[in-house]
Amino acid sequence: MPASQAKRKILVTNALPYANGALHLGHMVGFMAADIWVRFHKLQGHDVSFVCGDDQHGTPIMLEAEKQGITAQQLIDRVEQNHAHDLQRFGIALDNFSGTHSEHNQQLSSEIYKRIRDTGHIDVRVIKQAFDEEKGLFLPDRYVKGTCPKCRSVDQYGDNCEVCGTTYDTTELIDPYSVLSGKPPVERESEHYFFKVSDFTELLLSWKDSPALQPEIANKLSEWFDAGLHDWDISRDKPYWGFEIPDAPGKYFYVWLDAPIGYMASHKLHCETHGLNWDEYWLAEHQNDTEVYHFIGKDIVRFHTLFWPALLHAAGYRVPSAVFVHGFLTVDGAKMSKSRGTFILADTYLDHLNPEYLRYYFAAKLSAGVVDMDLNLEDFSARVNSDLVGKMVNIASRCAGFIGKKFAGRLATQSADSALDGAFKNAADSIADKYQQRQFARAMREIMALADRANQFIDENKPWELIKDETQQQRVHEVCTSGINAFRYLCIYLQPVLPALVAEAEQFLNVKPLKWSDLQSELLDHQINKFKPLMTRIESEPVEKMIEDSKASMTPPQSNNPDPDSPLGQDPISAEINFDDFAKLDLRVALISKAERVEGADKLLRLTLDLGGEVRNVFAGIKSAYEPQQLEGRMTVMVANLAPRKMRFGVSEGMVLAAGPGGDELFVLSPDEGAKAGMRVK
Ligand code: 2FM
Ligand code: ZN
Repeated sequence: MPASQAKRKILVTNALPYANGALHLGHMVGFMAADIWVRFHKLQGHDVSFVCGDDQHGTPIMLEAEKQGITAQQLIDRVEQNHAHDLQRFGIALDNFSGTHSEHNQQLSSEIYKRIRDTGHIDVRVIKQAFDEEKGLFLPDRYVKGTCPKCRSVDQYGDNCEVCGTTYDTTELIDPYSVLSGKPPVERESEHYFFKVSDFTELLLSWKDSPALQPEIANKLSEWFDAGLHDWDISRDKPYWGFEIPDAPGKYFYVWLDAPIGYMASHKLHCETHGLNWDEYWLAEHQNDTEVYHFIGKDIVRFHTLFWPALLHAAGYRVPSAVFVHGFLTVDGAKMSKSRGTFILADTYLDHLNPEYLRYYFAAKLSAGVVDMDLNLEDFSARVNSDLVGKMVNIASRCAGFIGKKFAGRLATQSADSALDGAFKNAADSIADKYQQRQFARAMREIMALADRANQFIDENKPWELIKDETQQQRVHEVCTSGINAFRYLCIYLQPVLPALVAEAEQFLNVKPLKWSDLQSELLDHQINKFKPLMTRIESEPVEKMIEDSKASMTPPQSNNPDPDSPLGQDPISAEINFDDFAKLDLRVALISKAERVEGADKLLRLTLDLGGEVRNVFAGIKSAYEPQQLEGRMTVMVANLAPRKMRFGVSEGMVLAAGPGGDELFVLSPDEGAKAGMRVK
């Protein structure tokens, strides 16, 4: 840490990943940006805590657990373990990772709620909502679909149309149906609890104009102010997986209420186990003593820049020092896609490639703006191979051999070029400034320019030629000592991005963990260890394999993010599936008790299927191959756990298995004689 700079107390968080599926590379953008920033500040000697955890409540988790036939607790425990493992493998140095379904979080959420309630900032009123009578639950907007009232596109979500972009109320949808049961929802009234955000207009206006926000985010806030601040609905009715609201039986906190409080709870756990003073970071009176930063994606800005500061302030806590918003990740110029194999899960990447390749590539592309970032796979290999293998590691490998073989592994008592040494040292403030500003791409460019300069110095001095001349041995020693020192400076500069590579380099250099202040000294008359290759080139094969595996792996379910711009996409599955995927299919023997034509339908027959007591209505596209009476009384096999689909003629509750190219060449599958309706296919 520069002597002039006081030691800062900093808390950093990254958005809590939703606990209903695996992490993918889109998640890693925020984690890596935050981790690089944290590591940089730690390297400078500041006190930094970096905490996160899973976001573990809400309807999607409740339903996902139900789908998997496990309890919500089992699901969140399993997911938390996987997330923590992936993050650790990517070198994300979290000081604590604990999910929102914790005692600390329940206690904090209740306390914050009571404070805002008791100071008059909660309004209770009755609202109407879509209710699925079959499932017995109120439906979040994303669980109601129907025909867009504007462009008439079918199967659009309850809050916006993906075809024409119109936003509307669920009640405006034409022919609405529940995604869960396929039945039209009914409107039902219930009491909801609202946080009166507009009570904090003054605070939010000054927050908007503070350095806490990037300019584009401050503009967004201005738009929201212009449109008027609405009360925020923070309650959900049972059944809901979450925390019950104090003194309100059957009412639960909306997941987005306790999710950011999860930052405080995770930090509390860290403070308790490490003898730190949590109050110092969170109480309003300490606003200027400590710093709190949140890294988030652009889809969750409203929660973090409007509701969150208002909530904190209302409950007597400090507002964050800043919220750093990053854009979405695209792969090869497009939204991540399952069918193209570019929906890459974190562990699929890790199965094939070194995490530090990606850390460097993301760093080389990240800026402080709210911009989307593209992972171009060709550019990724080229950039890593050229910068890290070809420039950085190459400096060490070009010099280490001479030091090892000719000078018994000992560096010279002086280096060869003070200008080169000066260039590395003088860049410190500029590079630190770029890290501090989250201008990582610029920092990487500046660092690589120094690497170029060091390689150029070695090229010009040609130690491999000088060594042949007996009179030039001292010069070779000093040139290579300069090279090794250049490599050491690069290690310091790149430690926040490449912690694992630098840890290995420290072994080679035979030095203690490097610090930013080590930039002030040179390594001279010092014994180094044998050089081992620190990084190998990215070849095309592992990249291709990763893409292949991504086509075959599971796509994680949607996040709880209600924002329609969410980067998560669900592409149809076209590739190989694994056994777990197959095991999810509930295939059953069914009796076709009735088959009939459907008026107005060219291809469909309506089948009434008997599953041994349970009756299903299924529309099958087999009209051109069968007369209805040919099918009646016949056994077949159906997919019994396919989500119900609303079709023009009614809801289809499953799918009958048939083989063939289509048209009149379609053959409904049947089991051997003796199979009974309802039997499971094994
Ligand atoms: O968008 C998401 O996936 C949320 N789980 C992020 C939560 S961040 C914080 F508020 F907890
Ligand atoms: Zn539309």
